[in-house]
Amino acid sequence: MTQDELKQAVAQAAIDTIRPQLDTDSVIGVGTGSTANFFIDLLASMKTEFDGAVASSEATAERLKQHGIPVYDLNAVSNLEFYIDGADETNEHLELIKGGGAALTREKIVAAVAKTFICIADESKKVGVLGAFPLPVEVIPMARSHVGREIVKLGGDPVYREGVKTDNGNIIIDVHNLSIDNPIDLESKLNQIVGVVTNGLFAQRPADILLLGTANGVEALKR
Ligand code: A5P
Repeated sequence: MTQDELKQAVAQAAIDTIRPQLDTDSVIGVGTGSTANFFIDLLASMKTEFDGAVASSEATAERLKQHGIPVYDLNAVSNLEFYIDGADETNEHLELIKGGGAALTREKIVAAVAKTFICIADESKKVGVLGAFPLPVEVIPMARSHVGREIVKLGGDPVYREGVKTDNGNIIIDVHNLSIDNPIDLESKLNQIVGVVTNGLFAQRPADILLLGTANGVEALKR
């Protein structure tokens, strides 16, 4: 199977997981990226079965709207049962690295609010130890050099993601050469640096369910 076929398969598995639990008042949290896009396209075919969505990025909001799916402000939603999103890396504890598409802050907010976070990923994303994928950190622009120096003290190699501005008007620093043995601790330490908005570690709020696309089918892992 191609990587796109695996992404399609996990998107379908997410639909199959949530569909029996939706009603016409349900609002669904929707992530960002190529795997989430497969999910959005499948949602479009069942849009009479739920009320609408909360988007984790402007790109996702646009794609949802193009399909005629209503997009709500998170503050207007009282009950968010599900958040469905991809990841750049996952470990066996369903701790994740996210933010390859620079949407990490809104993704983390929607994940924090949702009752159940379902991560959809192809098997290339599953690792033993997080950190081979450079860890994205969203930073207030004027703090770029300060945050970079503090990241070096934590043992990482910061690289400014040239030409990228987040939906929140900030910049991204990607942290290379980390072997993240304690994701919960590193998530906290990075968030303590003044000027950091969010980092792409989802360890304090990991996924609840991982639907992993493999050559032998979709594996469901739960916390
Ligand atoms: C977006 O900022 C990321 O967190 C994505 O969820 C992540 O990069 C996965 O993207 P793909 O599904 O395109 O691999």
